[in-house]
Amino acid sequence: MSPSEKALRLRARKGHAPISALTAYDYPTARLLDEAGVDLLLVGDSLGMVVLGFPDTTHVTLADMIHHTAAVARGSQNALIVGDLPIHTYPDPATALANARLLVKAGAHAVKLEGGLRQADKVAAITADGIPVVGHLGMLPQRVKVEGGYKKKGKTEQETQALLNGALALQQAGITALVLESVLPAAARYLTEHLEVPTIGIGCGRSNCDGEIAVITDVIGSYPWFVPPFANPRANVAGEITRAVQGYLDALTG
Ligand code: KIV
Repeated sequence: MSPSEKALRLRARKGHAPISALTAYDYPTARLLDEAGVDLLLVGDSLGMVVLGFPDTTHVTLADMIHHTAAVARGSQNALIVGDLPIHTYPDPATALANARLLVKAGAHAVKLEGGLRQADKVAAITADGIPVVGHLGMLPQRVKVEGGYKKKGKTEQETQALLNGALALQQAGITALVLESVLPAAARYLTEHLEVPTIGIGCGRSNCDGEIAVITDVIGSYPWFVPPFANPRANVAGEITRAVQGYLDALTG
């Protein structure tokens, strides 16, 4: 199936079956998630924190994204692979398109970028080239320094309407799906109901979007130093690593 067909298949899921999405940054994780049947693998710029050890996503470069997207592509057969365009890589439509092409060359089927109205022309340039785009609204991690922290969105009617205007502009520009991050449940539900494209929520409460996305390290408990309040860990991989390494050390020294 071509990347465009995969994207269309995902878009057609709205109103039918919930979309499952997880981040992946490397070959083994991508392979395990793909074989488990996850619909969408996001090579998120969250890798800046959970893989590269930076305080936020603003340190991630296009070279980082290309490197990790290629690894994920080697591990995945079925999922739609979405690569994040990192901060400062989509300042204008021509640059956005050139950089989106580089992620596609590395193995991404689609790219994701953050923002609404101000990004519509970049989204239009990329989709016109046949590259599917996933939008991202609500709390925008690439703006964490500008906004002075991670804040919930959709707190007022005015804010929710602004989100909808941005989402409609992105939809008009041809996005395949829209990630909503840390949008209050009622606002997320309102956006979901007023859009033709599927919404994929993180930190928006349960069942307010057409699908859910989670950072894989939050799901498997492999990054214990920061766990967002909305995370729902289903394993304690960090504990298992410590236990296994302790056994290794004990066997050597004991
Ligand atoms: O980079 C990322 O992991 C993301 C998700 C939080 C949606 O953008």
